[in-house]
Amino acid sequence: MPPPEASVIVGVGADVFDVRRMARELDEGGASLRESLFTPGEIADCEGTHAPAQHYAARAAAKEAAAKALGVGLSSVAAWRDAEVGRDPHGRPALRLHGGLELTAARLGVTAFSLSLSHTAELAIAVVVLESAAHGTAAVAAGAR
Ligand SMILES: CC(C)(COP(=O)(O)OP(=O)(O)OC[C@H]1O[C@@H](n2cnc3c(N)ncnc32)[C@H](O)[C@@H]1OP(=O)(O)O)[C@@H](O)C(=O)NCCC(=O)NCCS
Repeated sequence: MPPPEASVIVGVGADVFDVRRMARELDEGGASLRESLFTPGEIADCEGTHAPAQHYAARAAAKEAAAKALGVGLSSVAAWRDAEVGRDPHGRPALRLHGGLELTAARLGVTAFSLSLSHTAELAIAVVVLESAAHGTAAVAAGAR
């Protein structure tokens, strides 16, 4: 049987986003703002819910949390779509990175991300944890010496 894959946490980021602010900005910015900040998949996920602003705010928090975990900022509007939140068949959120954020993650040796979201009518929060299997292997090897 192969040994269990070892990994270590190499980054963590958290963010909170105001749901009413998100609702206001989406009202004012319309479809163009929505499409500049969120991917088509995210828009489909959020628009299919009873309270889209809560889900958009959670995804905004996830993008900021991912940037914090990676130690970078979301300096351009385009960077917002470089962190994408999907869902597995059970509704569990999954983070995918593209573009500059994907390159940063690769440079840091990140091999897996964990994302957790929660939201109410007022606030949305997200926590992102970055893991590295490569670092884990090195750590286990070092510990075995
Ligand atoms: C998943 C669950 C705990 C969400 O709790 P909640 O208080 O209703 O809602 P919250 O605002 O705290 O969290 C909502 C977020 O939970 C996340 N979520 C949904 N299903 C999830 C799951 N199976 N595992 C992890 N996270 C999940 C989603 O990101 C969701 O936000 P989104 O719809 O914008 O993507 C609840 O729906 C539940 O009990 N589901 C059934 C049991 C289950 O699958 N539990 C898994 C964790 S033990």
